[in-house]
Amino acid sequence: MPTVLALETSCDESAAAVVHGRTVLASAVASQVEEHARWGGVVPEIASRRHVEALPGLIEQVMRGSGLAMAELDGIAATVCPGLAGALLVASVTGRTLARLHRKPFLGIHHLEGHLCSAQLDSDPPQPPYLVLLVSGGHTELVRVDAPGQYRRLGRSHDDAAGEAFDKVARLLGLGYPGGPAIAAAAEGGDPHRFALPKGRVSRPEGGFYPHDFSFSGLKTAMLRQVRALEASGAMLPVADLAASFEQVVAEVLVERSCRCARDQGLGTLVLVGGVAANQRLRRLLEVQCRELGLRWRLAPLAYCTDNAAMIGVAACQWLSHGTDSSTALGIAARWPLEQAADLQVRPAPF
Ligand code: KG4
Ligand code: ZN
Repeated sequence: MPTVLALETSCDESAAAVVHGRTVLASAVASQVEEHARWGGVVPEIASRRHVEALPGLIEQVMRGSGLAMAELDGIAATVCPGLAGALLVASVTGRTLARLHRKPFLGIHHLEGHLCSAQLDSDPPQPPYLVLLVSGGHTELVRVDAPGQYRRLGRSHDDAAGEAFDKVARLLGLGYPGGPAIAAAAEGGDPHRFALPKGRVSRPEGGFYPHDFSFSGLKTAMLRQVRALEASGAMLPVADLAASFEQVVAEVLVERSCRCARDQGLGTLVLVGGVAANQRLRRLLEVQCRELGLRWRLAPLAYCTDNAAMIGVAACQWLSHGTDSSTALGIAARWPLEQAADLQVRPAPF
């Protein structure tokens, strides 16, 4: 089993970890959430600056925590795509420099592959083939995993990602940023069935609907209309009921389409990962539905749902075990398909 130092700075969390195979020896995350909260979302320029400030200290912290010296590592990994370009650069340049200095292999990792690998941090990890519901601030995808590195996207959102919908609706309800935890807290004790909300479907040009795809823009508009109507009536906003109803319909639509996709693909295991996977209502509903349908299910450990470097380390260890690494000339890309994650391990570097 290889041991790597992994770095992650693709959005608004600076993170470092030392990982041995599927075992986390040390992991640290410095969140910038409070600073971005003032602006109601991530400000890219601020994110990059904070990564530059935070990363050296985090690396020192996890190296000390692991009890290892640089010489004992088998590789250095960094997230290189997708994400905010200026933010990605920080971990990429740091990782490539450390790799050259210490003569170690460098591994450029796809952020979404990292999220997929967070499920490997469970004590009983899923065995391929399986279906993953990946729900984060930037992505809502159904991914078929046939082997490590072999991914096929079977479903996606045509507009907002699930996490983005949480963030926007939280702002509408006057709750904090990030919206996911704020809505979950506000929804406690609320009636999840008080408001009937739409489960956005995506039409096929030839008629019917894409059965495994998502759309959250109609839901967002429905929430806006509901709030405006309540405000016009002069009543106090029933924030708990609104938050609970929104959370419920998002959880239902995610679980229903994932289970349908697993069944259509003949896959027996459904895996939940990504920032929104921290949502307790979603976790509970997925368990209940899977049990009812006779599917196995795995949930990424709570600590590794939102962005972290441990999941990037697990992905890097998988590639090293396969005998591959990246060119230290590999740059960064704001967008790059998950299906081409393996291209990050080939020479010449694709970007
Ligand atoms: O995976 P992540 O940390 O970053 C991205 O790669 O995007 O996901 C962040 C997203 C945010 O939109 C946040 O609102 C959402 O995950 N989130 C949640 C919860 N915790 C974080 N959504 C719902 N319920 C939660 N408990
Ligand atoms: Zn993420």
